[in-house]
Amino acid sequence: MSVMSTTLDADLCAAAQAHPNIALIKYWGKRDVPLNLPVVGSLSITLDTLWTRTTVRFAAELPADRLRLNGREDAKQLRKVSACLDLLRARAGTGLRAEVTSYNNFPTGAGLASSASGFAALVLAADAALGLGLPPATLSEFARRGSGSASRSIFGGYVEWALGDRVDGEDSVARPIVDAAAWPLRVAVAITSTAEKAIGSTEGMNRTADTSPYQRAWIDTQEADLAEARAAIAARDFERLAAISEFSCLKMHALAMAARPGLLYWNAATMAAMHEVRRLRATGVPVFFTVDAGPQVKAICLPSAATQVAAALREIPGVLNVLETGLGGPATRIAVADAVAA
Ligand code: PMV
Repeated sequence: MSVMSTTLDADLCAAAQAHPNIALIKYWGKRDVPLNLPVVGSLSITLDTLWTRTTVRFAAELPADRLRLNGREDAKQLRKVSACLDLLRARAGTGLRAEVTSYNNFPTGAGLASSASGFAALVLAADAALGLGLPPATLSEFARRGSGSASRSIFGGYVEWALGDRVDGEDSVARPIVDAAAWPLRVAVAITSTAEKAIGSTEGMNRTADTSPYQRAWIDTQEADLAEARAAIAARDFERLAAISEFSCLKMHALAMAARPGLLYWNAATMAAMHEVRRLRATGVPVFFTVDAGPQVKAICLPSAATQVAAALREIPGVLNVLETGLGGPATRIAVADAVAA
């Protein structure tokens, strides 16, 4: 039955919450740009206290999709949001347009994975609004179409996004590997700039693939890194996870820096924070860093070190703020009233 035959708008409204995730073994590079199919698999942790809350309302009276992001109409993101909603509309057999309202409780578009939590929340809210009840793997696939890393934010804890080998991308989806509670690491995020990043990840990835001489080596060495990270997580071996995660982060940045023109996502405070994390680790503090396509530094540590790590990062000149979080759960439905009140 098509949802077009369901007439009441109230039935076609739902809300969802999703958390950003941070890759320990990085995704960088697309083998198919429209489908967001990666050139490498990746592995991440989903965060806890940071969230996106999104309400989707499908209604016959809407002439076009609308998006309000953090209280403002956002024409720039609307095209991607509409394309993502089209996937769900096609499954539901409806042409209804939607009104999307979304809030982040953390800086948007500044290397904090707001697109990951954003598209995961969007897909789940739209799935619920249309009454589809799609399986998590399909939600992950649809979220990936909005933003690659969003495939991982459908799930909580430790998550792996498979490379896949199908041309339609149906097997390039994420799956949870270990629950957050099974190894509850902590994360301190050092915010060194709240400006929107100058070069988005798609442009950065494409430039890298076209011009970086290290692209082949990046692809060829990823599987070994994934295997090492999986083993470190299975053994709850923090030192081993620290070593492979920093390696993957620096390798991704080296790859991108070697593009033409080179991609430099770091500022002086980013560098200072990375050095501070290494200094702390050399004195026995269980902490390591990772950095994405932006200047923020994510310091991952054992719970016993969380207070000390956050305090040390706050001391660094150029660190504007430090957000502290644990590892979180999967994207979930929430009451529409709770999303609006956010
Ligand atoms: O999902 P995107 O297009 O925002 O790309 C994310 C890229 C990195 O954050 C740098 C790495 C990753 O695996 O999340």
